[in-house]
Amino acid sequence: MSDHTPNWESLRQYYPLLEKGVYLKSASIAAMHKDVLDEITKWNLFMAQSAGSHEEKYFELLMDVHHSIATFLGCDQEDVTLLENTSHNMNILAMMLADEKRLGKNEIVAVSDEFPSNILPFYHHGFKVNQVKTDGGEFSAEDLFERVNNKTAAVVCSVVQFSSGQYTDPLLLSKLAKEKGVHLFLNTTQALGTLPFSLKDLQVSALTSSCHKWLGAGIGASLFYMSKEFRRKRPYPLAGWCSVAEPFEMKNEKPQPREDVMALQLGSLPFAVLAGVAKACEVISSIGLAPIQKRLQGHTHTLRTLLKEKGLKPLGNGQSGITTFALYEDPVQTQEFVDDLKKKNIHVNCRRGLIRVSPHFYNTEEEIKTFMESLILKA
Ligand SMILES: Cc1ncc(COP(=O)(O)O)c(C=O)c1O
Repeated sequence: MSDHTPNWESLRQYYPLLEKGVYLKSASIAAMHKDVLDEITKWNLFMAQSAGSHEEKYFELLMDVHHSIATFLGCDQEDVTLLENTSHNMNILAMMLADEKRLGKNEIVAVSDEFPSNILPFYHHGFKVNQVKTDGGEFSAEDLFERVNNKTAAVVCSVVQFSSGQYTDPLLLSKLAKEKGVHLFLNTTQALGTLPFSLKDLQVSALTSSCHKWLGAGIGASLFYMSKEFRRKRPYPLAGWCSVAEPFEMKNEKPQPREDVMALQLGSLPFAVLAGVAKACEVISSIGLAPIQKRLQGHTHTLRTLLKEKGLKPLGNGQSGITTFALYEDPVQTQEFVDDLKKKNIHVNCRRGLIRVSPHFYNTEEEIKTFMESLILKA
Protein backbone atom coordinates (compact mmCIF):
# COMPACT_ATOMS: atom_id res chain seq x y z
CA MET A 1 0.00 0.00 0.00
CA SER A 2 1.33 3.38 -1.02
CA ASP A 3 1.90 6.19 1.52
CA HIS A 4 3.03 8.92 -0.91
CA THR A 5 0.90 12.04 -1.33
CA PRO A 6 -0.42 12.22 -4.88
CA ASN A 7 -0.60 15.51 -6.70
CA TRP A 8 -4.36 15.89 -6.30
CA GLU A 9 -4.57 19.01 -8.43
CA SER A 10 -2.83 17.46 -11.42
CA LEU A 11 -4.97 14.30 -11.18
CA ARG A 12 -8.04 16.42 -11.91
CA GLN A 13 -6.99 16.79 -15.56
CA TYR A 14 -7.78 13.09 -16.11
CA TYR A 15 -11.44 13.55 -15.15
CA PRO A 16 -13.22 15.52 -17.91
CA LEU A 17 -16.43 15.71 -15.87
CA LEU A 18 -14.76 18.05 -13.39
CA GLU A 19 -14.51 20.81 -16.01
CA LYS A 20 -18.29 21.04 -16.11
CA GLY A 21 -19.06 22.12 -12.58
CA VAL A 22 -18.86 21.13 -8.93
CA TYR A 23 -19.49 17.39 -8.88
CA LEU A 24 -20.08 16.08 -5.33
CA LYS A 25 -21.97 12.85 -6.15
CA SER A 26 -19.40 10.04 -6.12
CA ALA A 27 -21.70 7.99 -3.86
CA SER A 28 -24.10 8.06 -6.78
CA ILE A 29 -21.82 7.59 -9.80
CA ALA A 30 -18.16 8.61 -9.67
CA ALA A 31 -16.37 10.57 -12.37
CA MET A 32 -14.47 8.40 -14.84
CA HIS A 33 -10.70 8.63 -15.37
CA LYS A 34 -9.67 9.10 -19.03
CA ASP A 35 -7.73 5.82 -18.99
CA VAL A 36 -10.88 3.95 -18.00
CA LEU A 37 -12.84 5.61 -20.79
CA ASP A 38 -10.02 4.83 -23.26
CA GLU A 39 -10.00 1.18 -22.22
CA ILE A 40 -13.77 0.84 -22.63
CA THR A 41 -13.60 2.64 -25.98
CA LYS A 42 -10.72 0.42 -27.11
CA TRP A 43 -12.78 -2.71 -26.50
CA ASN A 44 -15.90 -1.28 -28.11
CA LEU A 45 -13.79 -0.41 -31.17
CA PHE A 46 -12.29 -3.88 -31.17
CA MET A 47 -15.82 -5.36 -31.18
CA ALA A 48 -16.95 -3.03 -33.95
CA GLN A 49 -13.91 -3.60 -36.11
CA SER A 50 -13.20 -7.30 -35.60
CA ALA A 51 -16.41 -8.81 -34.15
CA GLY A 52 -15.67 -12.55 -33.93
CA SER A 53 -12.50 -12.57 -36.07
CA HIS A 54 -10.32 -12.90 -32.97
CA GLU A 55 -12.69 -14.49 -30.49
CA GLU A 56 -9.84 -15.76 -28.33
CA LYS A 57 -9.13 -12.13 -27.31
CA TYR A 58 -12.35 -11.99 -25.29
CA PHE A 59 -11.30 -15.03 -23.31
CA GLU A 60 -7.84 -13.58 -22.70
CA LEU A 61 -9.44 -10.33 -21.56
CA LEU A 62 -11.68 -12.22 -19.16
CA MET A 63 -8.70 -13.97 -17.58
CA ASP A 64 -6.78 -10.69 -17.26
CA VAL A 65 -9.79 -8.95 -15.71
CA HIS A 66 -10.24 -11.72 -13.13
CA HIS A 67 -6.56 -11.55 -12.29
CA SER A 68 -6.86 -7.77 -11.74
CA ILE A 69 -9.94 -7.91 -9.53
CA ALA A 70 -8.56 -10.78 -7.44
CA THR A 71 -5.36 -8.78 -6.88
CA PHE A 72 -7.37 -5.67 -6.02
CA LEU A 73 -9.50 -7.51 -3.45
CA GLY A 74 -6.70 -9.72 -2.11
CA CYS A 75 -8.34 -13.07 -2.85
CA ASP A 76 -7.83 -16.13 -5.05
CA GLN A 77 -8.93 -15.71 -8.63
CA GLU A 78 -11.30 -18.67 -8.42
CA ASP A 79 -13.28 -16.96 -5.64
CA VAL A 80 -14.28 -13.80 -7.49
CA THR A 81 -16.09 -12.72 -10.62
CA LEU A 82 -17.92 -9.81 -12.21
CA LEU A 83 -21.69 -9.87 -12.61
CA GLU A 84 -24.15 -7.12 -13.43
CA ASN A 85 -25.14 -5.68 -10.05
CA THR A 86 -25.36 -6.14 -6.31
CA SER A 87 -29.11 -6.80 -6.38
CA HIS A 88 -28.44 -9.80 -8.60
CA ASN A 89 -25.64 -11.04 -6.35
CA MET A 90 -27.77 -10.81 -3.21
CA ASN A 91 -30.46 -12.90 -4.94
CA ILE A 92 -27.86 -15.57 -5.65
CA LEU A 93 -26.78 -15.54 -2.00
CA ALA A 94 -30.38 -15.77 -0.79
CA MET A 95 -30.94 -18.77 -3.06
CA MET A 96 -27.74 -20.40 -1.82
CA LEU A 97 -29.12 -20.30 1.74
CA ALA A 98 -31.82 -22.80 0.71
CA ASP A 99 -30.56 -25.50 3.11
CA GLU A 100 -30.51 -23.11 6.07
CA LYS A 101 -34.04 -21.98 5.22
CA ARG A 102 -35.28 -25.57 5.06
CA LEU A 103 -33.77 -26.23 8.49
CA GLY A 104 -35.58 -23.23 10.04
CA LYS A 105 -32.74 -20.73 9.77
CA ASN A 106 -34.86 -18.34 7.78
CA GLU A 107 -33.90 -14.94 9.18
CA ILE A 108 -31.46 -12.26 8.09
CA VAL A 109 -30.12 -9.44 10.26
CA ALA A 110 -29.44 -6.01 8.71
CA VAL A 111 -29.73 -2.36 9.69
CA SER A 112 -32.96 -0.66 8.68
CA ASP A 113 -31.12 2.14 6.83
CA GLU A 114 -29.51 -0.27 4.35
CA PHE A 115 -29.70 0.16 0.61
CA PRO A 116 -32.62 -2.01 -0.62
CA SER A 117 -30.30 -4.34 -2.60
CA ASN A 118 -29.24 -5.73 0.79
CA ILE A 119 -32.77 -6.38 2.00
CA LEU A 120 -35.35 -6.91 -0.75
CA PRO A 121 -33.79 -10.04 -2.34
CA PHE A 122 -34.03 -11.84 1.02
CA TYR A 123 -37.73 -11.00 1.44
CA HIS A 124 -38.27 -12.19 -2.12
CA HIS A 125 -36.73 -15.57 -1.33
CA GLY A 126 -38.83 -16.08 1.77
CA PHE A 127 -36.60 -14.82 4.58
CA LYS A 128 -37.65 -12.66 7.47
CA VAL A 129 -35.38 -9.63 7.73
CA ASN A 130 -34.71 -8.43 11.26
CA GLN A 131 -34.05 -4.76 10.75
CA VAL A 132 -31.95 -3.10 13.44
CA LYS A 133 -32.94 0.54 14.02
CA THR A 134 -30.17 3.14 14.01
CA ASP A 135 -29.78 6.37 15.94
CA GLY A 136 -29.58 9.05 13.23
CA GLY A 137 -27.73 6.55 11.07
CA GLU A 138 -25.38 5.47 13.87
CA PHE A 139 -25.12 1.87 15.04
CA SER A 140 -22.35 -0.44 16.15
CA ALA A 141 -21.33 -3.80 14.73
CA GLU A 142 -22.18 -5.20 18.17
CA ASP A 143 -25.77 -3.86 17.81
CA LEU A 144 -26.15 -5.98 14.71
CA PHE A 145 -24.69 -9.17 16.11
CA GLU A 146 -26.73 -8.92 19.31
CA ARG A 147 -29.74 -9.65 17.13
CA VAL A 148 -28.29 -12.93 15.86
CA ASN A 149 -30.18 -15.96 17.15
CA ASN A 150 -30.51 -19.62 16.25
CA LYS A 151 -32.79 -18.71 13.34
CA THR A 152 -30.31 -16.32 11.77
CA ALA A 153 -28.92 -17.52 8.45
CA ALA A 154 -26.77 -14.47 7.73
CA VAL A 155 -25.89 -10.91 8.68
CA VAL A 156 -25.88 -8.53 5.71
CA CYS A 157 -24.05 -5.24 6.08
CA SER A 158 -22.69 -2.40 3.97
CA VAL A 159 -19.26 -1.25 5.09
CA VAL A 160 -20.46 2.28 4.31
CA GLN A 161 -24.18 3.01 4.46
CA PHE A 162 -25.45 4.72 1.32
CA SER A 163 -27.61 7.24 3.15
CA SER A 164 -25.93 8.17 6.43
CA GLY A 165 -22.36 7.37 5.32
CA GLN A 166 -21.95 5.37 8.55
CA TYR A 167 -18.77 3.30 8.37
CA THR A 168 -18.53 -0.11 10.01
CA ASP A 169 -15.13 -1.76 10.30
CA PRO A 170 -15.13 -4.88 8.10
CA LEU A 171 -12.51 -6.50 10.36
CA LEU A 172 -14.79 -6.15 13.37
CA LEU A 173 -17.81 -7.43 11.43
CA SER A 174 -15.77 -10.39 10.27
CA LYS A 175 -14.55 -11.15 13.81
CA LEU A 176 -18.07 -11.00 15.27
CA ALA A 177 -19.47 -13.20 12.50
CA LYS A 178 -16.80 -15.78 13.23
CA GLU A 179 -17.55 -15.68 16.97
CA LYS A 180 -21.28 -16.12 16.35
CA GLY A 181 -20.77 -18.75 13.67
CA VAL A 182 -23.02 -16.94 11.21
CA HIS A 183 -22.57 -16.08 7.55
CA LEU A 184 -21.54 -12.50 6.83
CA PHE A 185 -22.42 -10.94 3.48
CA LEU A 186 -20.59 -7.66 3.04
CA ASN A 187 -21.55 -4.93 0.61
CA THR A 188 -18.58 -2.68 -0.16
CA THR A 189 -20.26 -0.64 -2.90
CA GLN A 190 -19.85 2.65 -1.01
CA ALA A 191 -16.33 1.80 0.19
CA LEU A 192 -14.53 0.19 -2.76
CA GLY A 193 -11.90 2.57 -4.06
CA THR A 194 -11.73 4.60 -0.85
CA LEU A 195 -10.60 2.12 1.76
CA PRO A 196 -7.47 -0.01 2.04
CA PHE A 197 -8.69 -3.49 2.86
CA SER A 198 -7.89 -7.01 1.76
CA LEU A 199 -10.05 -10.10 1.78
CA LYS A 200 -6.99 -11.94 3.12
CA ASP A 201 -7.67 -10.27 6.48
CA LEU A 202 -11.40 -11.02 6.52
CA GLN A 203 -13.51 -14.11 7.00
CA VAL A 204 -16.65 -13.33 5.08
CA SER A 205 -18.91 -15.78 3.29
CA ALA A 206 -19.48 -13.33 0.46
CA LEU A 207 -18.75 -9.79 -0.66
CA THR A 208 -20.43 -7.78 -3.37
CA SER A 209 -19.57 -4.36 -4.70
CA SER A 210 -21.14 -2.37 -7.49
CA CYS A 211 -18.41 -0.67 -9.51
CA HIS A 212 -19.99 2.61 -10.64
CA LYS A 213 -19.45 4.51 -7.40
CA TRP A 214 -16.11 5.39 -5.80
CA LEU A 215 -14.22 2.94 -7.99
CA GLY A 216 -15.16 5.05 -11.02
CA ALA A 217 -15.55 2.12 -13.41
CA GLY A 218 -18.70 3.22 -15.23
CA ILE A 219 -22.08 1.54 -14.90
CA GLY A 220 -22.92 -2.12 -15.44
CA ALA A 221 -20.74 -4.36 -13.29
CA SER A 222 -20.28 -5.57 -9.74
CA LEU A 223 -17.54 -7.57 -8.07
CA PHE A 224 -18.77 -10.76 -6.47
CA TYR A 225 -16.65 -12.83 -4.07
CA MET A 226 -17.68 -16.06 -2.38
CA SER A 227 -15.50 -17.98 0.05
CA LYS A 228 -14.59 -21.58 -0.72
CA GLU A 229 -16.19 -22.65 2.53
CA PHE A 230 -19.52 -21.02 1.64
CA ARG A 231 -19.47 -22.54 -1.85
CA ARG A 232 -18.67 -26.01 -0.64
CA LYS A 233 -21.70 -28.31 -0.98
CA ARG A 234 -23.89 -25.45 -2.21
CA PRO A 235 -24.77 -25.78 -5.88
CA TYR A 236 -25.01 -22.54 -7.79
CA PRO A 237 -28.68 -21.68 -8.31
CA LEU A 238 -28.11 -20.54 -11.92
CA ALA A 239 -26.31 -22.03 -14.91
CA GLY A 240 -25.71 -21.26 -18.57
CA TRP A 241 -23.53 -22.42 -21.40
CA CYS A 242 -20.50 -20.66 -19.88
CA SER A 243 -20.95 -22.33 -16.46
CA VAL A 244 -19.05 -25.43 -17.56
CA ALA A 245 -15.32 -26.11 -17.71
CA GLU A 246 -15.22 -26.19 -21.53
CA PRO A 247 -17.99 -23.90 -22.81
CA PHE A 248 -16.74 -23.91 -26.41
CA GLU A 249 -17.31 -27.67 -26.69
CA MET A 250 -21.01 -26.69 -26.55
CA LYS A 251 -22.09 -30.10 -25.29
CA ASN A 252 -25.56 -30.82 -24.02
CA GLU A 253 -24.77 -33.68 -21.64
CA LYS A 254 -25.32 -33.02 -17.95
CA PRO A 255 -22.05 -31.27 -16.99
CA GLN A 256 -19.74 -31.74 -14.07
CA PRO A 257 -20.40 -28.64 -11.91
CA ARG A 258 -17.70 -26.04 -12.20
CA GLU A 259 -16.64 -24.72 -8.79
CA ASP A 260 -15.08 -21.32 -9.37
CA VAL A 261 -17.30 -18.25 -9.03
CA MET A 262 -16.85 -17.46 -12.73
CA ALA A 263 -19.41 -20.22 -13.29
CA LEU A 264 -21.97 -17.52 -12.46
CA GLN A 265 -21.03 -15.64 -15.62
CA LEU A 266 -23.64 -17.65 -17.44
CA GLY A 267 -23.29 -16.50 -21.02
CA SER A 268 -22.12 -13.65 -23.25
CA LEU A 269 -20.68 -10.73 -21.33
CA PRO A 270 -20.31 -6.95 -21.61
CA PHE A 271 -16.57 -7.26 -22.27
CA ALA A 272 -15.90 -3.53 -22.64
CA VAL A 273 -17.54 -2.81 -19.27
CA LEU A 274 -15.47 -5.52 -17.60
CA ALA A 275 -12.29 -4.16 -19.15
CA GLY A 276 -13.23 -0.77 -17.66
CA VAL A 277 -13.48 -2.29 -14.17
CA ALA A 278 -9.99 -3.79 -14.38
CA LYS A 279 -8.60 -0.45 -15.57
CA ALA A 280 -10.40 1.41 -12.77
CA CYS A 281 -8.81 -0.95 -10.20
CA GLU A 282 -5.43 -0.19 -11.76
CA VAL A 283 -6.02 3.59 -11.67
CA ILE A 284 -7.14 3.57 -8.03
CA SER A 285 -4.23 1.31 -7.00
CA SER A 286 -1.73 3.59 -8.75
CA ILE A 287 -3.07 6.64 -6.86
CA GLY A 288 -3.09 4.60 -3.63
CA LEU A 289 -5.96 3.60 -1.36
CA ALA A 290 -4.31 4.93 1.80
CA PRO A 291 -3.84 8.49 0.43
CA ILE A 292 -7.36 8.41 -1.02
CA GLN A 293 -8.77 7.43 2.36
CA LYS A 294 -6.83 10.25 4.05
CA ARG A 295 -7.98 12.77 1.47
CA LEU A 296 -11.62 11.76 1.96
CA GLN A 297 -11.27 12.00 5.73
CA GLY A 298 -10.06 15.59 5.21
CA HIS A 299 -13.03 16.46 2.97
CA THR A 300 -15.51 14.92 5.38
CA HIS A 301 -13.96 16.70 8.33
CA THR A 302 -14.20 20.05 6.50
CA LEU A 303 -17.82 19.45 5.51
CA ARG A 304 -18.94 18.30 8.94
CA THR A 305 -17.17 21.19 10.67
CA LEU A 306 -18.73 23.79 8.38
CA LEU A 307 -22.19 22.21 8.68
CA LYS A 308 -21.99 22.11 12.47
CA GLU A 309 -20.94 25.76 12.52
CA LYS A 310 -24.25 26.47 10.81
CA GLY A 311 -26.17 24.43 13.35
CA LEU A 312 -26.79 21.59 10.89
CA LYS A 313 -26.41 18.00 12.05
CA PRO A 314 -24.60 15.55 9.77
CA LEU A 315 -25.62 11.91 10.18
CA GLY A 316 -23.40 8.94 10.91
CA ASN A 317 -19.92 8.67 12.40
CA GLY A 318 -18.17 10.80 9.76
CA GLN A 319 -15.72 8.06 8.73
CA SER A 320 -16.53 7.79 5.04
CA GLY A 321 -16.74 10.10 2.03
CA ILE A 322 -20.50 10.57 2.49
CA THR A 323 -21.94 13.50 4.45
CA THR A 324 -25.71 13.66 4.82
CA PHE A 325 -27.88 16.18 6.63
CA ALA A 326 -31.39 17.59 6.81
CA LEU A 327 -31.84 21.10 5.43
CA TYR A 328 -35.63 21.25 5.31
CA GLU A 329 -38.23 19.10 6.97
CA ASP A 330 -40.11 18.88 3.70
CA PRO A 331 -38.50 16.39 1.28
CA VAL A 332 -40.07 18.21 -1.68
CA GLN A 333 -38.36 21.45 -0.66
CA THR A 334 -35.07 19.56 -0.29
CA GLN A 335 -35.41 18.10 -3.79
CA GLU A 336 -36.17 21.58 -5.15
CA PHE A 337 -33.04 22.95 -3.47
CA VAL A 338 -30.93 20.19 -5.04
CA ASP A 339 -32.55 20.84 -8.44
CA ASP A 340 -31.78 24.57 -8.12
CA LEU A 341 -28.15 23.78 -7.33
CA LYS A 342 -27.98 21.57 -10.40
CA LYS A 343 -28.96 24.56 -12.54
CA LYS A 344 -25.88 26.30 -11.10
CA ASN A 345 -23.75 23.25 -11.92
CA ILE A 346 -23.34 22.15 -8.33
CA HIS A 347 -24.24 18.47 -8.06
CA VAL A 348 -25.29 16.75 -4.83
CA ASN A 349 -27.96 14.14 -4.08
CA CYS A 350 -31.31 14.26 -2.38
CA ARG A 351 -31.65 10.89 -0.65
CA ARG A 352 -34.63 9.97 1.55
CA GLY A 353 -35.43 13.67 1.94
CA LEU A 354 -31.90 14.57 3.04
CA ILE A 355 -28.96 16.19 1.29
CA ARG A 356 -26.08 13.84 0.55
CA VAL A 357 -22.70 15.28 -0.39
CA SER A 358 -20.03 12.86 -1.52
CA PRO A 359 -16.75 14.39 -2.68
CA HIS A 360 -14.00 12.09 -3.96
CA PHE A 361 -10.23 12.62 -3.92
CA TYR A 362 -10.52 14.63 -7.15
CA ASN A 363 -12.63 17.29 -5.47
CA THR A 364 -11.06 20.31 -3.82
CA GLU A 365 -11.68 22.16 -0.56
CA GLU A 366 -12.74 25.14 -2.71
CA GLU A 367 -15.49 23.08 -4.30
CA ILE A 368 -16.74 22.05 -0.88
CA LYS A 369 -16.76 25.69 0.17
CA THR A 370 -18.64 26.65 -3.01
CA PHE A 371 -21.32 24.15 -2.02
CA MET A 372 -21.39 25.51 1.53
CA GLU A 373 -21.86 29.04 0.19
CA SER A 374 -25.01 27.87 -1.56
CA LEU A 375 -26.35 26.98 1.91
CA ILE A 376 -25.54 30.50 3.19
CA LEU A 377 -27.47 32.01 0.29
CA LYS A 378 -30.41 29.79 1.16
CA ALA A 379 -30.35 30.49 4.89
C1 LIG B 1 -24.76 0.20 -0.60
C2 LIG B 1 -25.24 0.08 -2.01
N1 LIG B 1 -25.32 -1.13 -2.57
C3 LIG B 1 -25.71 -1.30 -3.84
C4 LIG B 1 -26.05 -0.21 -4.63
C5 LIG B 1 -26.42 -0.44 -6.04
O1 LIG B 1 -27.06 -1.66 -6.22
P1 LIG B 1 -27.14 -2.34 -7.63
O2 LIG B 1 -25.76 -2.75 -7.99
O3 LIG B 1 -28.03 -3.51 -7.42
O4 LIG B 1 -27.71 -1.34 -8.58
C6 LIG B 1 -26.01 1.06 -4.06
C7 LIG B 1 -26.42 2.29 -4.78
O5 LIG B 1 -26.89 2.39 -5.87
C8 LIG B 1 -25.57 1.20 -2.75
O6 LIG B 1 -25.46 2.42 -2.19
